[in-house]
Amino acid sequence: MSTAPVLRVARAAPATSGLHGVPVTTEQIGEGAGAFPFKQLEAQGFDGKLGETALVTVDDSVQCLIGLGESESVSGASWRRAGVVFARLAGKVKAASVQIDGDTDVAALAEGLLLGSYSYDELKPSASKSALKTITLTGSASKKTTAAVQAGVAVAQAVCFARDLVNEPGGSLTPQRFANEAKRVSRQPGLSIKILGLAEIRKARLGGLLGVNRGSDLPPRLVEMSWKSGVKGAPTIALVGKGITFDAGGLSIKSAAGMSTMKCDMGGAAAVVAAMSALPSIKPKANVRAWVPMTDNMLGGDATRVGDVLKIRNGKTVEVLNTDAEGRLVLADALSLACESKPAAIIDLATLTGAAMVSLGRDYAALMANNDEWAAQVEQAAESADELVWRLPLPARYRKLLDSPIADMKNIGGPYGGSITAGLFLQEFVDADIAWAHLDIAGPAFAESATEHGPRGGTGYAVRTLLNLVDSFTRLG
Ligand code: BES
Ligand code: MN
Ligand code: ZN
Repeated sequence: MSTAPVLRVARAAPATSGLHGVPVTTEQIGEGAGAFPFKQLEAQGFDGKLGETALVTVDDSVQCLIGLGESESVSGASWRRAGVVFARLAGKVKAASVQIDGDTDVAALAEGLLLGSYSYDELKPSASKSALKTITLTGSASKKTTAAVQAGVAVAQAVCFARDLVNEPGGSLTPQRFANEAKRVSRQPGLSIKILGLAEIRKARLGGLLGVNRGSDLPPRLVEMSWKSGVKGAPTIALVGKGITFDAGGLSIKSAAGMSTMKCDMGGAAAVVAAMSALPSIKPKANVRAWVPMTDNMLGGDATRVGDVLKIRNGKTVEVLNTDAEGRLVLADALSLACESKPAAIIDLATLTGAAMVSLGRDYAALMANNDEWAAQVEQAAESADELVWRLPLPARYRKLLDSPIADMKNIGGPYGGSITAGLFLQEFVDADIAWAHLDIAGPAFAESATEHGPRGGTGYAVRTLLNLVDSFTRLG
């Protein structure tokens, strides 16, 4: 992340506060009344639609009108988008400071302003750094507004943290460095962390993580993070994230093209660690515990061979028939550990299968679950976050596709329904009486080109869904 601008709240902006953003609805423009310079707007084809902007001059000062769309359909998502487009425009015109009017959904607006300011330029000294230093939000500077803005800032910082983790190349964000990043953000009240190294992972018999790590020169890590809300009798939610810091495929090696974005294969882990980092700001009532297995998937001289059998933490054995189906092996151990602590509900996040993109395209995560109520809470949390999920079934009749002649199961199914057979594999490591949901984020974790909310690269997908989910958790019946 380049240094993010500072967001402040004020009743009125000081005269020096730079480019002035004014969010407007289509009705405000369509009525043709009021103080807007309609000739200038017409010339730019601006009619207040969501995502549109126009630069106009009023009384010698430049204003930026920002479309919110039709007033009827204005939602948090519209304010977030308005923030994104304004921040991008401010970046383009190299504004050092901006002000924006807004007193409706200021949390979403604040989120958008910071998400739109994001770029990953640590490794590109020649890139022109963003000039934007301060953003002033003008409107009611009440306590409530200020708190909402602070919450929005915390959420956006977590999303940008997840983006940074995904964008950092695989040879740089090693398991050890990733675990250290988790440790750094855990130095906040209410958070604690435990990091298992190779010896402890061996002692804990995490056979899936060890099997995937066997082809690597770098030791693995198993990170456990914990948020204690301090609320008496609060339920605990478990988060599990796939942390493959680079997926070469192992001996079942990927093609050069298939490998080119595989630094993103810790996108689930990034979402989990980043969401945990924001909990001291959000302060959910529920307790939250996270299990994050970290390793790369390489092909060193002693790499797991095709046909090797691994024994997972819960005692089940797996015949590895494709070393590129490694995510489910490390998740199997982490899910087993999560179940041992008997949480009220579990959600895992993983860039797990290319098949998820085949079925749902790049923008949707595939949701699978063993509990309809929990699945509905995930769908609701994603909806409020404006992140797309679509549920797939986990039919028991497909379980036989994982049958192995020599072990409890093999790590690949047939040629079809690859996301579902991966989900069924994971289900083998979850106690049937614990509510569990699985989000396959292979598509939305990484953007091959710029999106509505951010540049090419890591998107921070699912951080906002996770924060909504833990904040609005209601006990399952
Ligand atoms: N990390 C990949 C899945 C992936 C692909 C994520 C593209 C993001 C973009 C995963 O480890 C993998 O390689 N899955 C295999 C499974 C197969 C061997 C059963 C796949 O999808 O091809
Ligand atoms: Mn793989
Ligand atoms: Zn992978």
